[in-house]
Amino acid sequence: MARYELTINGKPHTVEAQPSKLLLDVLREDLDLTGTKYGCGEGQCGSCTVLVAGKARRSCLMSVSQVGQQPVETIEGLAEGDQLHPLQEAFLQKVAFQCGYCTPGMVMAAKGLLTENSSPTRDEVRKAMNNNICRCGTYGRIVDAILAVAEGGNRG
Ligand code: FES
Ligand code: FES
Repeated sequence: MARYELTINGKPHTVEAQPSKLLLDVLREDLDLTGTKYGCGEGQCGSCTVLVAGKARRSCLMSVSQVGQQPVETIEGLAEGDQLHPLQEAFLQKVAFQCGYCTPGMVMAAKGLLTENSSPTRDEVRKAMNNNICRCGTYGRIVDAILAVAEGGNRG
């Protein structure tokens, strides 16, 4: 076991874990941040997506020892009190989910995208979100929600 000082959603957390323990498992089991979902466990579905140092990463492919001093952001860190993040609001308004299982990963991937490109085209959103799987098939609405938040809105 080793001791890790993590910064999750802007707050410090101390975790004792095996170096190889996955970030996904640390979040869910040690920190009770269960918004980040386990899907495939193989980096294929995106349901476990979080932001590490502002970039979308698959927490099922990253060990806690790889996180180091990099800040981690999860879906729990987006809302401020009762105030939802604009992406969460847009997903609600566009009804960009059905069962909701993929949604935390979709929202975090979208946040990573908009951090890198605040004004993506529809094709750029499609491409960036291509590796996040929604078994309910709400892809079109997810793209609409992201474009609604992007600078300039839906630019086709
Ligand atoms: S659970 Fe991580 S990509 Fe599927
Ligand atoms: S809303 Fe059900 S998997 Fe995407």
